[in-house]
Amino acid sequence: MDNRLFFSATQRNRDCIGDVLSKIIKKGAVLEIGSGSGEHGVVFQKRFPKIVWQTSDPELVHRKSISSWIEYEDLTKKMPQPLEIDVEKIPWKIPLKLAHSLQGIVSINMIHVAHWSCTIALFKESGKLLKKGQFLMLYGPFKIDNKHTSESNYFFDNSLKTKNAFWGIKNLEEVCDESKKNGFSQEDIISMPANNFSIIYRKVS
Ligand SMILES: C[S@@+](CC[C@H](N)C(=O)[O-])C[C@H]1O[C@@H](n2cnc3c(N)ncnc32)[C@H](O)[C@@H]1O
Repeated sequence: MDNRLFFSATQRNRDCIGDVLSKIIKKGAVLEIGSGSGEHGVVFQKRFPKIVWQTSDPELVHRKSISSWIEYEDLTKKMPQPLEIDVEKIPWKIPLKLAHSLQGIVSINMIHVAHWSCTIALFKESGKLLKKGQFLMLYGPFKIDNKHTSESNYFFDNSLKTKNAFWGIKNLEEVCDESKKNGFSQEDIISMPANNFSIIYRKVS
């Protein structure tokens, strides 16, 4: 059965996110948290054939979509099936093989559609799984100095909060504080199209 979902933003941001990844990806596996439809997963698996892209999502409908995309793109021999990971359900259930080959963790457009406790959990668990020198990359909108970086992000933030009072665009400085608490340094802040950022955190201790 074809359970593929289509998230329009992934069409617009896959190339520029891939360009950022191309500078940090080496060998091994990348774990994606909150993979959604799975479109990013299959695109990045094809763009970086030497690595293994491991998707995950807490929602069954998303995991079914990811599996369908993997099949549709003929990647079943290369790409593992999505994991059921809710960042707050600690410890994450990670296959040993993945834990040993992990080089980094990526989460795209996840933390602003989740409670702040999810950001805390994301850094806490990533901090335990990743070794010195490995990366955690976040992509999405952020506030800087507690201010929105554009009017459209202000409206977007309000629309998120009407859906769920605990959702909303997070403040980069507070995200950075969480990273430090878990042994990361904020290596790079890259401005992306449509008022988004890619933030690269590097495990330093
Ligand atoms: C806006 S979608 C983004 C999906 C995909 N990364 C993309 O860019 O198209 C947010 C995703 O985060 C996932 N998510 C929400 N809460 C989560 C949690 N507690 N742990 C892991 N993923 C979560 C949702 O299921 C959803 O797939």
